[in-house]
Formats: sequence, structure tokens, C-alpha cells
Amino acid sequence: MCSVVFLLALSGVMLHGAAALDNGLALTPTMGWLHWERFMCNVDCAGDPDNCISERLYMQMADVMVKEGWKDAGYQYVCIDDCWPAPQRDAQGRLQADPKRFPGGMKKLSDYVHSKGLKFGIYADVGKSTCAGYPGSLGFYETDAQTFADWGVDLLKFDGCFMDWTLLGEGYMNMSKALNKTGRSIVYSCEWPLYEWPFHQPNYTAIRETCNHWRNYADVYDSWSSVKSIVDWTASHQNIIIPAAGPGGWNDPDMLVIGNFGLSHDQQESQMALWAIMAAPLFMSNDLRDICPRSKELLQNRHIIEINQDPLGKQGSCTAKGNSFHIWERPLSNNRQAVAVLNLQEIGGPRQFAINTIPGWRICNPKCEVIQILPRYKDLSVQTLQSQLVLSVNPSGTTLLTITPISKDHTRFPRLQWNNTSFRHPQVTVL
Ligand SMILES: *[C@@H]1O[C@H](CO)[C@@H](O)[C@H](O)[C@H]1NC(C)=O
Ligand SMILES: *[C@@H]1O[C@H](CO)[C@@H](O)[C@H](O)[C@H]1NC(C)=O
Ligand SMILES: *[C@@H]1O[C@H](CO)[C@@H](O)[C@H](O)[C@H]1NC(C)=O
Ligand SMILES: *[C@@H]1O[C@H](CO)[C@@H](O)[C@H](O)[C@H]1NC(C)=O
Ligand SMILES: *[C@@H]1O[C@H](CO)[C@@H](O)[C@H](O)[C@H]1NC(C)=O
Repeated sequence: MCSVVFLLALSGVMLHGAAALDNGLALTPTMGWLHWERFMCNVDCAGDPDNCISERLYMQMADVMVKEGWKDAGYQYVCIDDCWPAPQRDAQGRLQADPKRFPGGMKKLSDYVHSKGLKFGIYADVGKSTCAGYPGSLGFYETDAQTFADWGVDLLKFDGCFMDWTLLGEGYMNMSKALNKTGRSIVYSCEWPLYEWPFHQPNYTAIRETCNHWRNYADVYDSWSSVKSIVDWTASHQNIIIPAAGPGGWNDPDMLVIGNFGLSHDQQESQMALWAIMAAPLFMSNDLRDICPRSKELLQNRHIIEINQDPLGKQGSCTAKGNSFHIWERPLSNNRQAVAVLNLQEIGGPRQFAINTIPGWRICNPKCEVIQILPRYKDLSVQTLQSQLVLSVNPSGTTLLTITPISKDHTRFPRLQWNNTSFRHPQVTVL
């Protein structure tokens, strides 16, 4: 176990400083709203006009984002996913929006979103067609990049369906160049590694040079089992994917499903906390026109967003597991640290967790300042290395903390030396 994590530290050193896509964007994880998980490919505007993929949906979402504090909280990008185009390209070979569902056209919708002080995201596919069967961009990368730039697009989600996997890298790199060539700053959101993993381990150095964020694993669903599977995949591949993350390029564990139907409030808190620790892009996929106040408060929680957006830009990792607790830690700027204690036991009531068994608790030598952010904000004040403080964590819930060392010489303790066994709880194995 220890040697595995030591390797992580080494590979981190190797990739650290690897060049990010040089477009000046996504220096912190992108924040916004993306339609897919909640609205999917609903094109039935006659039967379901409020929820179909149409210009109205994005205009209403943009209105709410400004009115209800989402924009002020940092959610900036209003993003369209699949199912927006007409079934055929136009006479010049350009993609066009479905004329019935987007009667004003994409330029007008983009102008509307910009008039609200927000940014506009769109979707296309590296292969012959999109996942839902609309025209793909293969053979049209430069045309499509220019079309998007002409429309004032600020973000492109580029899917990977219907593509020969051996050409995935080439396709994603060619589109990256095509976007650059337009001269417009466009966040480039890729799914390259997701489609390559079934065949071989993706080259994350090349991915970081090409994309601003990249999906690694399956689509999120509105369920705790889906969120858990994403978190588990991330933990089991962290030595490969974490070193690739940093300002300009991020691992994307997919959308936040908070505010929908499938997660309990504790599970929603777990998703929010873990997405902050994972330095994940925060794309909500929910109905902002109708969202419960507790979910809204959670999604707009400035303390959690501050962890997600920390300028150091280091992705956190799973540092210990045991007794159905998983500990995730993320180094923050100014030597601070964020810690998430996740209780994975789905039976019984809240369970106790001794705070001094957190692997990174060593930064509390001799003292530290601890703030609990979830489940509710609480100043846990100054603690010591020997603190006997015990957390109470709900089933499938998470306690999220920040720890700030109070010590003149705390920097002497190397941050990645997780193999120090002196704080091992009998039931928690330090990874
Ligand atoms: C295009 O790439 C160059 C060099 O890699 C970079 O300096 C420039 O800012 C990029 N332009 C855009 C619009 O992304
Ligand atoms: C990428 O661009 C190169 C150079 O123009 C071209 O030879 C290659 O076929 C392109 N690959 C794809 C998948 O578009
Ligand atoms: C991965 O990509 C980088 C950058 O494009 C390249 O220099 C390196 O050779 C690639 N590694 C492998 C194993 O293909
Ligand atoms: C482990 O960490 C503690 C606290 O920082 C320190 O006092 C001790 O010397 C360390 N032990 C080893 C073997 O590194
Ligand atoms: C931790 O790992 C490093 C590198 O393998 C090793 O030099 C050091 O002795 C280890 N410390 C402990 C306490 O096992």
C-alpha cells in the first residue's frame, strides 16, 4: 500500500508542471450548468415544451442563473449538450440548429446568454455522428470550430461516439488546433480518455496539452450508486489521473446531480464535498427553475466553492480507508488542507470518527485551526496533534473540514509522506 502511494508522489513530480492547453482558460475548474443528465435528448417540444431541448430552456436557465444568485456564486457557463442540431448540415456544410426548436438560431441565443453576463457552451462529437445520432464533426473540424466561433461560443463539449478509437487522439488534437486557429477563447471539454480506457491507458500528458478538462469515466446518473462508482473509479486510478490536473486542465467526474430526485440530502452533500476535493469542473444538471432551497444553498455554499476553486489547483486524493470510512484530502493554498470524511455504511445511524486519525492531521503539530463546512458550518477552533475531537458522520454523508496549521515551521513536514504510520487508527489503513 505504502509503496503505491509513494509512486503516486513520484509520478506527480514527473507530470507536475506538464504543459496545459495554452488558451489561458480554466485556470480554476469551470463552473456552470449543462443540460444532459436532467433533460437528456427530450426533443418533444409539442408534448413537453418546458423541458424539451430548445432555445427557451437555455434562456430561462440564463434568466434564473442571474436572478437567483447562481452567477454571483460563480456558475458562469450555460451549456447545451447533445440533440441541438438539425439532422443535416446546411448547403455550405455547416452545422445548423434545429429550426423548430431554435427558431432564433444559435447566434441569437448566444447573444442572449452574453447579455446576461454569462458564457455560452455547445456540444459536438469527434466522430461520424453524435451519441444521439446527429451530425458528427469528423472531417469538419475546422468548419465547425469556425461556426462555433462565429456564434460566440465560449465552451465546446466534444463527445467521442462513433469514432475509430485509434484516431481519437488525432481527432481531439486536430479540433484543439482548429479551435485555436479561430482566435476565439473557447474552453475545450473532452471525452478522449473515457473512450480510450477500454483499449489502453490514455496518455494524460497529451490530453493535458490538448484539453481544458476531460471525462475519464461513465456518465453520471441521478443515483447514489452512480456517484459512488465515479468516486471509486477516481480513487482506484488516482495515481494515474491526479498528476495531470492543475490550472488549465482538470479531470472531469461529470455533472452535479444535486437538486434532482435520486440523492438524499446527505448524499448531495457527499457529491458536493467530493467534487470540491477532486478539483472537478462544477456543471450542475438540474432544473434551476424549480430546485429545493436546501439543494440550492448547498450548490451555492461559498466555503465549498472556495475549496473547489483553490488557486493552488491541486486535485485531492483518497488517503485512507477503513471501517467503511473513506478519507479524502486536498492540499490548498497557504498550507491549508481540505478533508472529507465519508461514511459509506448504509445501515444504522451517524457514526463516530476520531479526527486525529485523518492522515494529514500531522499538520496539526503543534496546533491547527479547524473549520467544519459540512454538514453545517462550525468553527471547531484550535486543535492540537493529540486532539480527542470526534466527528459524527451520517450514513452516506460527509463531514467536510478545512485545517490550517498554526506553526512557524509546519512547512518542514513533507506534504506527501503518507507512509508515516504513527497516527494509524486501528481500523483505518493509511493508503
Ligand atoms: C493558440 O495557441 C497559442 C500557442 O500555443 C497561444 O499563445 C494562443 O493564446 C492560443 N490562442 C487561443 C485563441 O487559444
Ligand atoms: C488530423 O490532421 C492531420 C493533418 O491535417 C490529418 O492528416 C489527419 O487525417 C487528421 N485526423 C483526423 C482524425 O481528423
Ligand atoms: C504522450 O504524449 C506526449 C506529449 O504529446 C509525448 O511526448 C509522449 O511521447 C507520449 N507518450 C507515449 C507513451 O506515447
Ligand atoms: C511521523 O510524524 C510525526 C508527526 O509529524 C513525527 O513526529 C515523527 O517523527 C514521524 N515519524 C517518522 C518515522 O517519520
Ligand atoms: C516512507 O517512505 C520513504 C520512501 O520510501 C522512506 O524513505 C521512509 O523511510 C518511509 N518512512 C516510514 C516511516 O516508513
